[in-house]
Amino acid sequence: MKVFNTKILGTGSYLPEKILTNDDIAKRVDTNHQWIVERTGIHTRRIGDPAKDETPSGMAARAAVKALEAANLTPNDIDFIIFSTTLPDMFFPNTACVLQQKLGITNMCGAIDINAACTGWTYAVPMADAMIKTGMYKNILVVGSEMTSSFNNWDDRNTCILFGDGAGAVILGRAAENEDSRIYTTTLSADSTKKDHLFLAAGGAAKKVTAEVLANNEQWVSMNGQEVFKSAVKTMASLSEKVVAESEKTMSDVDWFIPHQANLRIIEAVGNRFNFPLEKVVINVDKYANTSSATVPIALDEAIRDGRIKRGDNVLIAAFGAGLTSGAIFLKY
Ligand code: UT7
Repeated sequence: MKVFNTKILGTGSYLPEKILTNDDIAKRVDTNHQWIVERTGIHTRRIGDPAKDETPSGMAARAAVKALEAANLTPNDIDFIIFSTTLPDMFFPNTACVLQQKLGITNMCGAIDINAACTGWTYAVPMADAMIKTGMYKNILVVGSEMTSSFNNWDDRNTCILFGDGAGAVILGRAAENEDSRIYTTTLSADSTKKDHLFLAAGGAAKKVTAEVLANNEQWVSMNGQEVFKSAVKTMASLSEKVVAESEKTMSDVDWFIPHQANLRIIEAVGNRFNFPLEKVVINVDKYANTSSATVPIALDEAIRDGRIKRGDNVLIAAFGAGLTSGAIFLKY
């Protein structure tokens, strides 16, 4: 069987217009700009407005249009959509189908949502890679788009400072035979013993939203921040080292590191574990906070568009999220 290498053909991102500052949040809960910056590195985040179609599907559509332009493709060139989102537009139809329609794709391509919380986009890429390698599909749109403001409890200072909304889109396709671009190695993992450290209890089939649920604030995210922090550092560092070693490379071969953007202290701690220089780490948590599974494709798109990441560069990606899920990707752009 002929095996193809997977190449990033184009990227795009979209951030909602509305900027929410730390001072804005401090008007509602007992916190302040200095505490938030020192503990998280976050200065601002964006908040989507459903009236402007800044929903998971609406933001993804804007990001995907930019990715199509960058890849020089038309909507009907997409032959599969994988849509990562933690809280979809609605439970069904899936958000990927809504996106298919918003992009005007009429070729009836397959369209699926996946949920691995903040690791979702990093989970989607190995799936798309396998489908491209085997020749099943040619151009796969892999989106991470999140409206975390819809599950964020604005009265809980432990969590509301951390999250933001946004979308990133990447089109993966076949590299030509004379091209170097490829995904070297990917690895995915989940530790369900830690599933109770980060969750959204109500709204699914197990617990419908009732007056009692609302009174208990179970419709919002719950988190044990310190446990998530410790696991995040450990797993992102170990999976990063694993994908680089399995690609028969060393950390000195990594040109750019794109970690999940949850907290600047987590990013710095991961980099310190393998002695990685901070200037080669793509960071935007200061501007957008944690946009869940959209952080990595947004950061990738920004670093490609501003010229930091160039063709031929080796890019290491690592993410973690509720589950606790985690994953890493090592690729040549
Ligand atoms: O994609 C995964 C998403 N989640 C994460 O990545 C979260 C990972 N965890 C974290 O980022 C950090 O644990 C936090 C930023 C959430 C918290 O930082 P921390 O350094 O672990 O603080 P802490 O929870 O140990 O809290 C220290 C103090 C506490 O007060 P006391 O008990 O020492 O008096 C908190 O009540 O800071 C207090 N505190 C705050 N103070 C001002 C907690 N949140 C705030 C706040 N403003 N927003």
